Order: sequence, then structure tokens, then C-alpha cells
Amino acid sequence: MADTVIVRPQELEQLIQQKLAAAGLTDQQAKIVAEHLVFADASGIHSHGAVRVDYYAERIAKGGMNTQPEITFEETGPSSGIVHGQNGPGQVVVLEATKYAIAMAKKSGIAAVGVSQTSHSGALSYYVKKAAQEDLIALSMCQSDSMVVPFGGKENYFGTNPIAFAAPRKDGEPVVFDMATTVQAWGKILDARSKNKEIPDTWAVDADGHPTTNPHHVHGLLPISGPKGFGLMMMVDILSGMLLGLPFGKHVSSMYQDLTKGRDLGQFILLIDPQRFTDLDNFKASVDTMVQELHETPPADGFEQVYYPGEINQLHYDKYMTEGIPIEKNIYAYLQSDTIHFNQYSRADAFAQTGSGK
Ligand code: NAI
Repeated sequence: MADTVIVRPQELEQLIQQKLAAAGLTDQQAKIVAEHLVFADASGIHSHGAVRVDYYAERIAKGGMNTQPEITFEETGPSSGIVHGQNGPGQVVVLEATKYAIAMAKKSGIAAVGVSQTSHSGALSYYVKKAAQEDLIALSMCQSDSMVVPFGGKENYFGTNPIAFAAPRKDGEPVVFDMATTVQAWGKILDARSKNKEIPDTWAVDADGHPTTNPHHVHGLLPISGPKGFGLMMMVDILSGMLLGLPFGKHVSSMYQDLTKGRDLGQFILLIDPQRFTDLDNFKASVDTMVQELHETPPADGFEQVYYPGEINQLHYDKYMTEGIPIEKNIYAYLQSDTIHFNQYSRADAFAQTGSGK
């Protein structure tokens, strides 16, 4: 990859931390966000790694992310609660919420925790993996701004509303599933735009609601598997937005329109202690058996092997954390510079964006 440079994870973390602290985060907040973004890049989730620093830094510098939030946990029952994030950095707020949920699930067996008023929280696998490493089954989902046409419609309504799930194993890192509910990330359309490359007609629609292969004509993304992905998006928005009394659907604040205001986003975390249902060791051994049986499944033509969900990310992580992480040269140069870019992301129309985002 000629346009990338291999960066040691420690260096990447330090560069990101410095940039975010220069933009206005405390050192501690900047460290938490940096750790998260390095995790994403190391896991091969480059759409949610260091590429985001430019946007975060501009929003922080413009006051659209609260750098002094008082994050509080309101216990609403023995196994439910709300974390009030006061629009602090998403990675800080949701990590804190996940920690509250872990403690609650260990005590009560189940924790259903809503996160109210957070900023963009990045790759969700980070949080569910942390909970599964504590021997819990974890589900996390969040709303994002409107850029997807509902099935059969031609105006955008829901966001790319991701869902992540993790379960612990006996002999290995947890199995983790983490996906946007759209066929493709918005970042992939931007990539095709920059290369003037056609996209498959299954990814997005133009302003008339017709499937398009021209990335410059994209007006809305398509849900995965038509009405099924559309239904999942609705579920995510109801659980992570409506349930908390937050704006939902097309009313969710835009990522790029006004960087001076907090985003008021919601997230939902559901943690389950397997021990309340079955023997923990047996459960974890069963997950291992499933992984083994999936590996033994004969591959179809054109495939080398069957990977369990999240395995490819784990393989990337193990390799990149030891050998270094491939980072786009322009991102690395930006991180090394003293610059904070302004007015890169202040566009009324997210689809007019030339930067990377989702
Ligand atoms: P993706 O399409 O790259 O992967 C989706 C899932 O499929 C992953 O669990 C991956 O491990 C699995 N997978 C991929 N190839 C596989 C293979 N060959 N065999 C078996 N499993 C395989 O993910 P996507 O949809 O592009 O999402 C990327 C990230 O974006 C996620 O971390 C998500 O949380 C994040 N996101 C965050 C948002 C936010 O507002 N915070 C909004 C939307 C997405």
C-alpha cells in the first residue's frame, strides 16, 4: 500500500492524544479517545480510526464537544440506568457507561443502560469486547444522523445505526460482531468519489430514489437486505434514541452541519451475565466449539476458509499491534503537524462532503 506508512501503535496513540489535547480535551480524555482510535485502526476498522481525528479536533475546538462533562449514572432500577454524558467525548462517555453496565450486570445479572447526550462514539466493538472480556454477553447500538433511505422511499430517514455483539470464549478473545446497518459505509462512497470509480448498484440511490453506480450522484445509502436492515435500523433508533427521549430518525443532529453545538446522541447497552442462565465454563467452551466447527466448514469456491464474525478484525489486531499499523500518509502528516483544520466539515449537506465520514 504505497499511500500508507506503518506506524507503531504507541506512536499513533501519542500523536492522536497530542492533537486532541491541543484541540481542547484534557490529557486523560485525549488518551481514552486515542486508545479507542488505535484499537479501530489496529482492528482494520480504518473508517473509525485516526481518520476521525481531523473532524473531532475541529468539533472540539469549535465547542461542539463538551470538554468538561459531569458524567453521571442514574440508577433507574436494579438492572437499568441512564448515563448522562452532557455531550462529552463519545469514547469517554460510552466507555464510562460500559463500566457502569459491567458492574451492574455482575451484580444483577442483566444491565440495560441508556446513554443520553453523547458525541460520536466510534467503533462499537471496542465496548462490547471490553464487557465480554469480563465474562459477559454484550450488545451495544447507537443512532447516527439521517443518510439512509427507508425501504421503498427516496428521502433519507435513519442513520447508519450500528449494532455490535460480543460473547466470551474459554480459549481465545471474545467473538465480536460489529456492523453498520447499511450495505456500505459512507466512507466507501467517498473513497469511490475520490477515485472516480463506479460503485455497485446495491449500495446507494440517487435523488430520485433509483439505484446508482455513480458515487457523485449518491443521495442516500441503502439498508442491508432491504426491509430487514430497515427494520434493524428502526430498532436501533427506538432503543438508543426514542427510549431516552432524544431526537430520532431524521431529527438526529447532523455530524457536519453545526460543529459549535453538542450532538445529543444516544446509545444503548445490554449486558447479560451467562451464569444466570447456564454454567459459565460450559458456555464459553460451547462458543469455542462453535468457532472450531465454523473453521472446519468446507470453504465455498473463491473462499480460503470460513472466519467467525470478528475474526478478521482480531487477526488484524494481533498483527498490527506487533508489526505496526498501516496509516494513510496524509493522516500521518496531519497528526505530526501542529495544525488544526477549520471549516473542513461545516457543510450543510453531508453528501457534499469530500472528507471521510460515516
Ligand atoms: P464491516 O462491514 O467491515 O464488518 C461487519 C462485520 O462483518 C464485522 O463483524 C466483521 O468482522 C464481519 N466480517 C467482515 N468480513 C467477514 C468475513 N469474510 N467473514 C466473516 N465475518 C466477516 O463493518 P461496517 O458495517 O463497515 O462497520 C464498521 C464500523 O463502523 C463498526 O465498528 C461500527 O460500529 C462503526 N459505525 C459506527 C457508527 C457510529 O455512529 N458510532 C455508525 C456506523 C458504523
